[in-house]
Amino acid sequence: MRIDIITILPEMLESPLNHSIVKRAREKGLAEIHVHSLRDFSSDKHRRVDDYSFSKGAGMVMAIQPIEKAIETLKKERDYDEIIFTTPDGKLFDQKEANTLSLKKNIIILCGHYKGVDQRVRDHFITKEISIGDYVLTGGELAAAVITDSVVRLLPGVLSDETSALTDSFQDYLLSPPVYTRPAEYKGMKVPEILLSGNDKLIDDWKHQQSIERTKKLRPDLYKKYSG
Ligand code: ADE
Repeated sequence: MRIDIITILPEMLESPLNHSIVKRAREKGLAEIHVHSLRDFSSDKHRRVDDYSFSKGAGMVMAIQPIEKAIETLKKERDYDEIIFTTPDGKLFDQKEANTLSLKKNIIILCGHYKGVDQRVRDHFITKEISIGDYVLTGGELAAAVITDSVVRLLPGVLSDETSALTDSFQDYLLSPPVYTRPAEYKGMKVPEILLSGNDKLIDDWKHQQSIERTKKLRPDLYKKYSG
């Protein structure tokens, strides 16, 4: 899978996409991630990428020219399945969307900024608008990093069997059960007896029951989806 991220702050994406599992996925060639500086596509002599809004007092707006140039430049090289715009007024991102995106071959993520982007960009180039939550970030870079991270870990071969994404919280609308490691007792705090029983069937049933109870208590909204 290839992900092209277009941003005015490429440095902001460096660290999150160059560590741990995402880094390994890139090194193994399972995910190709390219970060592009939007300024490189500006025809302005000062490499400007924003301009005043036509509606007074609305702040700066990301201009159409550099964005169109960046997207068209990439599209000349390959076809893209989705051109995503990160914005707080987009569709709320969830595991289902991460699963869907992980099946695509090539995607572009355009990081939003300032007071927004010229609406013509959204109308003519963007195929999907995504928000990562009902709060406002300083820009779409962290959202792009969140989307990329959650998608890359789903790609075949990225996680080992043990850490398989199939057992993730949310994958079936249930939160994960609690986990424990050695020692079996620490300062009087004990690991649940059943986990020491060696009976795989009983342990699996217990884990499932714990998942259900945790979900009911912590995320009743998710539990409704699971049971309904
Ligand atoms: N840009 C600013 N806030 C955002 C959010 N919550 N999700 C996606 N992009 C954003």
